[in-house]
Amino acid sequence: MSRLIIVSNRTPGKSPAAGGLAVALKKALSTRDGFWFGWSGSFSENPEKKARFETIDGLKIGQIDLTRADHAAYYAGFSNSILWPAFHLRLDLTDIQSHWYEGYRRVNAQFADALVAEIEPGDVIWVHDYHLIPLATELRRRNIRNRIGFYLHIPFPTPDALNAIPHHEDLLKDLTAYDLVGFQAQRDLVAFNEFIAHELMVKETGGQPFVVDPSSTVLDVFPIGSDPGAFAKLGKSPAAQKMYNRVARGLNGRALILGVDRLDYSKGLPQRISAYEKLLENNANLRRTVHMIQIAPPSRDTIKEYQVISDELDSAVGRVIGKFSEPDWLPLTYVKRAYGQASLAGLYRLARVGLVTPLRDGMNLVAHEYVGSQDPEDPGVLVLSRFAGAAEIFHDALIINPFDTDETAEAMRKALVMPLKERKQRWRSLMDAALKHSVDNWAESYLDALMHSHAAAPGDEDLPGRPHPRTPAHRTAERPPAGRAPFGSRMPFFPWLRSVFSS
Ligand code: G6P
Repeated sequence: MSRLIIVSNRTPGKSPAAGGLAVALKKALSTRDGFWFGWSGSFSENPEKKARFETIDGLKIGQIDLTRADHAAYYAGFSNSILWPAFHLRLDLTDIQSHWYEGYRRVNAQFADALVAEIEPGDVIWVHDYHLIPLATELRRRNIRNRIGFYLHIPFPTPDALNAIPHHEDLLKDLTAYDLVGFQAQRDLVAFNEFIAHELMVKETGGQPFVVDPSSTVLDVFPIGSDPGAFAKLGKSPAAQKMYNRVARGLNGRALILGVDRLDYSKGLPQRISAYEKLLENNANLRRTVHMIQIAPPSRDTIKEYQVISDELDSAVGRVIGKFSEPDWLPLTYVKRAYGQASLAGLYRLARVGLVTPLRDGMNLVAHEYVGSQDPEDPGVLVLSRFAGAAEIFHDALIINPFDTDETAEAMRKALVMPLKERKQRWRSLMDAALKHSVDNWAESYLDALMHSHAAAPGDEDLPGRPHPRTPAHRTAERPPAGRAPFGSRMPFFPWLRSVFSS
C-alpha cells in the first residue's frame, strides 16, 4: 500500500488541538505507513529547512517552525482575515491587506521545501484546508509528480465573494494543480461550478479570458463525519457519566438546551442567544423548566473580529441573564473554555436539544457528535442550520434558518415538547446517516478517489493551467466502485464547459 502523507496547518500533538480534523485523520493514518506534516506551533527567526520528526500518540509527525512575521501574514492575515471570512460570505469582516499574500505563499513554499526531501515515489499526499491551497503548485514546481489531493474543510464561496479575494485567480489555478479536490457538500461544488460559469459569461461578453481550467482535476463531494460508534461508547464512559451526573444534579429535572462551538462569528452565537431569548419571551410557561448551556472556547483571539464577536456574545448572554434570571433560576450558563471529548459526550447525552445553528459552516462535526452520543431509548433533538454542510445529510433534524430567530425559537420549543416516539424516529434516521457518513468512510472514499485520479506521468508539465494529458474517461472508467462515493453519484463540472475548455 502506498504511504500516505497528510499535510495541514496544525498537527495533532504538541501544537494547539486540531479538533475534529485531528480525530478524523489520525484514524486514516493509523492503518497506513506515512506521516503527518505541519507547523510545529513554534516560532524561530531562522527556521530549519528540514522537518523535525517525532512520534506522538503512535503517529509519525513532521514539523517545521515559522518566523513570527510569516506566521502572522499567513495565518492571522491571509488565511483567517481574508480567506476564512470571504469563504464564509462575510466580506464585511474581511481585512483586505494584499501584502499578506506574500507571507501566505512563502509559508506554502517553505512547507514544500521541507516536504520535498521526505517524499518518495508512490507516496500519496493529502493536503487539508484553506491555509495550504498553493501547496500542490509549490510541490509541482519542485518536480513532485505524486498524486496530490486537496480537501476543503470550509464552504466554497460564491463568485462575488471569491472575486473579492486578492489573487483569487492564482488560488483557483492552484486548485487545478491537484489531482483531486474534495468539498464538504454539494453546495460547495455547485459554487465552484458557478464561478466557472461566471467566468464563461464574462468571457462571452468580451471580458477577460479564463483564469482557470479545471478540466484536469477531479472535483467531488466527500462529506466528513465523526465516529458515532465511539461517541456512543464515550457517552457511557465514567468521565462522561461524571459530567452527566454533575450537570443533571444542577438541572434538577429541567431540560437542557446545549450549544458547543468554537467562538467564531460563523457560528451564529449572538443570533442563537437571541432565539433563546425569544423562546423564553414567547413561552412564559417554559421559563423555569429549561436551562441553556453554551460552551464556546475562544479562538484566533489575536484577530480583531474575534474579539468583537466575543464582546458581542458577552453582552447578549448578560442581557438574557439579566432579563430572565430569578434568585433560584438561571436561564443560561456560558462557559468560555474547551472540554475534553468524554465530558462533551456526557453533556451531549444529557441535552434534550442540541443547537447547531451556524450562519455558514463546512460540515459541523458537533452535529455528528451530538447524534452519536444520544441514548437510543431517550434521544434528544438536533436543531440544525440549513447553512451547515451537515444539513445535506441530517434531513430529520429540525432544520432552521439561523438568521430567522423566530424560526429558531419555534424549533427549540418544538424540540422541547416533542413526543418520545418522534424523537426516537428522528434520531434513528440521524444515527443511520451519521454511521453512513462516518469518518472512516469519508477518509476511505476520498483516498479511493485519489488513488483512481490521474497518475502524473514522468515528464508531464504539471504546473497549474497546463492540462494533464487526461481524457474525461479517467473520471468514469477509473472512478471508485459505485457505492463508495458519499452520495453515490458525482457531479462533475458542467459537461458543456468541458468542451469549451478542450477547444
Ligand atoms: C476549522 C478549520 C480547521 C482549523 C479549525 C480550528 O475547523 O477548518 O482547519 O484547524 O477550524 O481553527 P484554528 O485556527 O484554531 O486552527
